[in-house]
Amino acid sequence: MRSRRVRLALACLLVLLVAGMPAVTGRVSILDFGAVPNSNNFYVATRNAAALMAAAQNASQLPLGADRTVYVPPATFYMAPSSYTGLHDLTFEIDGELIAPLNMSLWPTDDHNNSLPIFQFTNCSRLLLTGSGVVDGQGYDWWWLIILNIIHTRPHMLCMDLCQDVEIANLRFKNSAQFHLRLHDIHNFTIHGISIEVDVEAQRELLANHGLLTTEAHAPLPIGIPTFPLNTDGIDPAGTKVHIYNVTIQNFDDAVAIKPASSKFVLSNCSRDYLVENSTVRFGVGMTIGSVPPNLGINCVENVLFRNIRFEAPIKGVYIKTNPGEDGYGVIRNVTYRNLTMENPLWWSIYIGPQQQKQPDGHGPGCMIYPLNPDCPTNPRITISDITLEDINATNALLSPGILRCNASNPCTNMVFRNVHVQGGSWPTSSFICENFDGTFDDVSPLPNCSQTPAQHVQHPQQVALQGNVWPAPVMSQDKDILAD
Ligand SMILES: *[C@@H]1O[C@H](CO)[C@@H](O)[C@H](O)[C@H]1NC(C)=O
Ligand SMILES: *[C@@H]1O[C@H](CO)[C@@H](O)[C@H](O)[C@H]1NC(C)=O
Ligand SMILES: *[C@@H]1O[C@H](CO)[C@@H](O)[C@H](O)[C@H]1NC(C)=O
Ligand SMILES: *[C@@H]1O[C@H](CO)[C@@H](O)[C@H](O)[C@H]1NC(C)=O
Ligand SMILES: *[C@@H]1O[C@H](CO)[C@@H](O)[C@H](O)[C@H]1NC(C)=O
Ligand SMILES: *[C@@H]1O[C@H](CO)[C@@H](O)[C@H](O)[C@H]1NC(C)=O
Ligand SMILES: *[C@@H]1O[C@H](CO)[C@@H](O)[C@H](O)[C@H]1NC(C)=O
Ligand SMILES: *[C@@H]1O[C@H](CO)[C@@H](O)[C@H](O)[C@H]1NC(C)=O
Ligand SMILES: *[C@@H]1O[C@H](CO)[C@@H](O)[C@H](O)[C@H]1NC(C)=O
Ligand SMILES: *[C@@H]1O[C@H](CO)[C@@H](O)[C@H](O)[C@H]1NC(C)=O
Ligand SMILES: *[C@@H]1O[C@H](CO)[C@@H](O)[C@H](O)[C@H]1NC(C)=O
Ligand SMILES: *[C@@H]1O[C@H](CO)[C@@H](O)[C@H](O)[C@H]1NC(C)=O
Repeated sequence: MRSRRVRLALACLLVLLVAGMPAVTGRVSILDFGAVPNSNNFYVATRNAAALMAAAQNASQLPLGADRTVYVPPATFYMAPSSYTGLHDLTFEIDGELIAPLNMSLWPTDDHNNSLPIFQFTNCSRLLLTGSGVVDGQGYDWWWLIILNIIHTRPHMLCMDLCQDVEIANLRFKNSAQFHLRLHDIHNFTIHGISIEVDVEAQRELLANHGLLTTEAHAPLPIGIPTFPLNTDGIDPAGTKVHIYNVTIQNFDDAVAIKPASSKFVLSNCSRDYLVENSTVRFGVGMTIGSVPPNLGINCVENVLFRNIRFEAPIKGVYIKTNPGEDGYGVIRNVTYRNLTMENPLWWSIYIGPQQQKQPDGHGPGCMIYPLNPDCPTNPRITISDITLEDINATNALLSPGILRCNASNPCTNMVFRNVHVQGGSWPTSSFICENFDGTFDDVSPLPNCSQTPAQHVQHPQQVALQGNVWPAPVMSQDKDILAD
């Protein structure tokens, strides 16, 4: 009797022991590598980052057929920057809350004094990042110190470079100090079911506390709208074959900004084949192409479809933006926006032209208060063509419907608007501001009245008509370092 009980107890213990061993289940918990929950301290956060990296390393060594999952259990972990190079065939299942510690002076930087992102993946393939967890960047203090020009760098949340065959699903990302997802030189990504949230109330409070809820610094926004160029972009991909769907984004900069690729990229030379669909954006500065500055390696974005998007109080909805630059060229072509609704747009519902941006430190091309200040040159080095907008309703817009501006020496061509209606504001003009914009308007209100401005004498743009693959030879060494906005 007694020995049977002992044997049973021993058997249970053995079962428990076996069950607790990551090597058997394949799920590698960060707790087994020294992670400590609930401790708001930078050194613990560094230890937790090390635990996550060690767990990923461990799971990487399991056989390919095994369940190679790195597991973050449901608890709060402060998390300093971590980086992963050459990971393949791994799942990160994050059910916990990962919080960036707020000890800014301890935040590590790279050789150029740029803050390291919370997560940096380089050279990866076949990764799945998922779970019911959340990554919280605690951005407020960073935003505030950036506005005050006290700091000049702040971390992105999740960066991936040279990665392919990646799925990011269902996680929540909030309050990144800078971009939430920055995906550079990538191929074959699927992103769905995630939410990205910049906490408006907390931001509003932060700004109100510092007397910044005014319009002076940043253009004709109504009082009470937080100053927004905080670079809290949602998803910024550059590369090929990207499907984004069923995402919810609330922020104060680009919701999704498809950045150009050029011949300097490794995995491709043009950001192409994008489908962004079935998603909701609150505030946000648009479902965006760009910004696209000229580049000696030819910056390129093509074959993009945004569809079934609902915008609530967007700062911009449709946004295609060029950036200044004197070296090289760029191209944006074959982009479609279909079935969009915008409720209560706060600024331009539709904007195609030179980007409106001023960094808090004063850097940036400006154009913020165009047309009040008409100094906002279009850039003929970027060729824009074959853009279609169809089935778009914006209602109760606060300001004029939009801006459509290209350069006389390289007008936008084959621009097709079909069933596009912007109802509401008429300040500072009652219709679109439209220049050098060739195309057709079918069932569009208000109807754009496009002017041809006189061409300046510039020699370069048309020769880069970019029909077929006529690319000027890239001259890498002379290229300028252009801030990736
Ligand atoms: C991975 O974890 C298992 C179980 O803890 C352990 O047996 C193995 O030695 C670890 N591998 C490495 C490389 O640390
Ligand atoms: C970091 O910040 C937390 C919370 O403000 C604080 O408790 C901690 O002492 C700070 N210092 C370190 C080294 O973590
Ligand atoms: C980084 O910052 C340090 C300290 O402020 C400075 O000495 C150094 O020159 C900077 N390096 C770069 C690459 O800007
Ligand atoms: C990425 O992998 C390639 C090929 O394996 C290698 O040549 C390259 O150095 C790696 N890059 C980085 C940043 O690790
Ligand atoms: C694209 O990536 C997914 C994983 O997210 C993978 O299942 C699929 O096979 C990849 N597609 C191709 C063509 O490799
Ligand atoms: C969209 O994402 C949410 C949140 O992850 C999920 O609950 C829902 O099932 C998804 N819907 C579709 C249609 O994929
Ligand atoms: C870009 O890629 C395409 C197809 O992969 C190729 O035909 C073209 O030559 C490339 N252009 C440059 C500048 O590398
Ligand atoms: C997006 O929504 C459309 C229309 O409801 C639907 O046909 C399509 O399958 C959805 N896409 C995804 C990936 O769920
Ligand atoms: C335009 O882009 C769509 C994807 O949005 C693609 O299916 C189509 O083939 C492209 N057209 C051309 C002419 O490249
Ligand atoms: C248009 O988008 C809405 C979501 O914003 C969706 O419910 C509807 O099914 C879409 N219509 C079509 C024709 O796909
Ligand atoms: C736009 O409004 C018209 C008229 O109310 C309606 O028929 C159409 O379906 C709406 N389209 C979208 C994309 O909401
Ligand atoms: C057109 O491009 C030229 C050359 O870059 C520039 O000087 C000019 O200001 C642009 N025109 C307008 C109206 O923006």
